[in-house]
Amino acid sequence: MNSKNGRSLIARVDGVTLSFGDRIVLKNCSLDVVEGAITCIIGLSGAGKSTILRLLDGLLLPSEGHIYVLGSDLCHLSEEQVNVMRQKIGLSFQFAALLDSLSVGDNVALPLREHTKLSRAEIRQTVFEALDSVGLAHAYDDLPAELSGGMLKRAGFARAIVTRPALVLYDEPTTGLDPIVSKLITETILKLRSKLNGTAVVISHDLPSIFTMADYIAMLFEGAIIAYDTADRIRNSPNPIVQQFLQGSEAGPIQI
Ligand SMILES: Nc1ncnc2c1ncn2[C@@H]1O[C@H](COP(=O)(O)OP(=O)(O)OP(=O)(O)O)[C@@H](O)[C@H]1O
Ligand SMILES: [Mg+2]
Repeated sequence: MNSKNGRSLIARVDGVTLSFGDRIVLKNCSLDVVEGAITCIIGLSGAGKSTILRLLDGLLLPSEGHIYVLGSDLCHLSEEQVNVMRQKIGLSFQFAALLDSLSVGDNVALPLREHTKLSRAEIRQTVFEALDSVGLAHAYDDLPAELSGGMLKRAGFARAIVTRPALVLYDEPTTGLDPIVSKLITETILKLRSKLNGTAVVISHDLPSIFTMADYIAMLFEGAIIAYDTADRIRNSPNPIVQQFLQGSEAGPIQI
C-alpha cells in the first residue's frame, strides 16, 4: 500500500465515519500512516484522537469506510484474524491499565506469555530490557500500587513495546509526566524507531515532544484530518485552525 506520493504505508484510515449514539465523532476521516515514520495526531480534547487509535488497533469498527493495517482491511477480517493482527500492534493507553495483582514485570511479560514460546529466562530478559528502555528496570518486582502515575505510564509503555510490534500506537505518552521523564519517553520513541525501523502513531498535546519526534503531523478537527504534512510544514502551516491550535490562542476559527 502506497500513499499518493509513493511512500510506503503501514496503515491507512480510509473515509471513516463513526458515531457514538447520535454523536458523529469521525466523518469521512482519512489518515495515512507512513512506514518507519512517527505520525503525531493533534486536536482538541474530545475530537476523536483516541477513537482513531482504537480503530487502528481493531477495537472499534467504523460504520463507513475502511481501516487498512499491514495490508489487510480490518473491516473484512474475522474476530480471530483481527486478534492475530493485534499481536503486531502495540497500544500504549492514555490511562495505564496494569493488573493490580501482578508485579510490574509480570504485567509487561503478559503479551510475551500469551503470544510467544519464549522460555522463562528469555521472557525475564526481554521484559528487563523493555523496562530498562523506559528507566524502570529497578521496578521489575514492584506492584503497580507502589508506582507513581508517571512510572505507571512508563510501565504501560514498556508493555506496549515488549513484543517489538510493527506498529506502536501511543495515546498521550507524556501527559502528566515531568519534563525530564517526558524527554526520556520522547527519546525512547525515537530510539525504538531508529533501532527497529518502527512505525508509530502518537497522540499528544505536548508540542515540544511532538516537534522533537514527529515526521508527520495530522490535525483532527470536526471529525476529519484537516491538515497533514511534515512537522516543519505543519509548524509553518497557513491554515488558521492549525495556527490557532499550535499557538493556543483564544482568537481564531476554533470556537472555544
Ligand atoms: N465508548 C464510547 N461511548 C460513547 N462515546 C464515546 C466513547 N468513546 C468516545 N466517546 C466520545 O467520542 C468523542 C471522542 O472521544 P476521544 O476519546 O476519541 O477523544 P480524544 O480526542 O482522544 O480526546 P482527549 O484529548 O480528551 O483524550 C468524545 O465526545 C467522547 O465522549
Ligand atoms: Mg484521548
